[in-house]
Amino acid sequence: MVVVMAPDATPEDVAHVVERVEAVGGSAFVSQGVDRTIIGLVGDVDSFHGLNLRTLRGVAAVHRISDPYKLVSRQHHPARSTIWVGKPGRQVPVGPATFTFIAGPCAVETPEQTLEAATMAKAAGASLLRGGAYKPRTSPYAFQGLGRRGLDILAAVGEATGLPIVTEVVDARDVAEVAEQADMLQIGTRNMANFGLLQAVGESGKPVLLKRGMTATIEEWLMAAEYVAQRGNLDIVLCERGIRTFEPATRNTLDISAVPVVQATSHLPIIVDPSHASGRKDLVVPLSRAAIAVGADGIIVDVHPDPEVALCDGPQALHGTDLRALAQAVRQIPPLLGRGPA
Ligand code: E4P
Ligand code: PEP
Repeated sequence: MVVVMAPDATPEDVAHVVERVEAVGGSAFVSQGVDRTIIGLVGDVDSFHGLNLRTLRGVAAVHRISDPYKLVSRQHHPARSTIWVGKPGRQVPVGPATFTFIAGPCAVETPEQTLEAATMAKAAGASLLRGGAYKPRTSPYAFQGLGRRGLDILAAVGEATGLPIVTEVVDARDVAEVAEQADMLQIGTRNMANFGLLQAVGESGKPVLLKRGMTATIEEWLMAAEYVAQRGNLDIVLCERGIRTFEPATRNTLDISAVPVVQATSHLPIIVDPSHASGRKDLVVPLSRAAIAVGADGIIVDVHPDPEVALCDGPQALHGTDLRALAQAVRQIPPLLGRGPA
């Protein structure tokens, strides 16, 4: 942390800052410039925060140098992590050595639809099955998901196809129930800053897929991951799923640069959701190619056997030719970048 003193700060003001810092066990290194004095602080940043340094006389600015997150930061864990999802013997990696393809229906609707979507996903090369049983809908009148029954269907289809399952949990009270069946718990964009829910999934013992809040900065997103990690769960995969911008051509704007930015600052794997980012099936394949090229550790994509009658997000669901094109991209491009299949 660096404290910048105002041009008119007195030697007493500088001494007072040094005194306060030393009182909480820190060290303060004063550097006297021609116009300005700056003070470099070394020690526990959290205890410096408690000092309210910005309020001290003569202080012009206080700058943080290190990341505010710790457990998820690469400063504390330089090697990039691989997260394993699924039961022993059937575990799927998400990390820097592989490319993980996750696909499935946006929402679990019926056993038949879910099995068909899962079969399509598996045939396209997916190694994890997605499917929403609890749906976070904008409208309270929209299909909210089948809840417990949807979870049972998804688990049965996961068993039948041999694919580990990832599903969203929207309420801290449901975490234990969902964790009983799911191999990975998804936190959706709307709940990224639901801190009680983050703590609950942090205590669940299951890997977590943490989507970026659609209005969250990367730092806020990593702080959300820190909430999960702080509860003892470092099995976190981040998912860039588009952010809200002024551009109406797509549902959200895929922030492709978030992938290398996150990889430079956090050791956690990061995947991309081109379906929810764009909301358009014609953009899913090109955006998936972009995600692979930029170095994402995987993608998560919506598929549906009959998008026209989908109860949620039909316009972005792949099937037929589009899904075949995606399967080809996922098979062919990652190996060129040194990544194996998951
Ligand atoms: C899908 O997975 C979400 O529940 C969906 O994108 C929510 O959006 P909507 O309720 O605005 O349709
Ligand atoms: C989803 O993946 O089902 C979903 C609701 O996505 P998001 O939270 O990114 O909108």
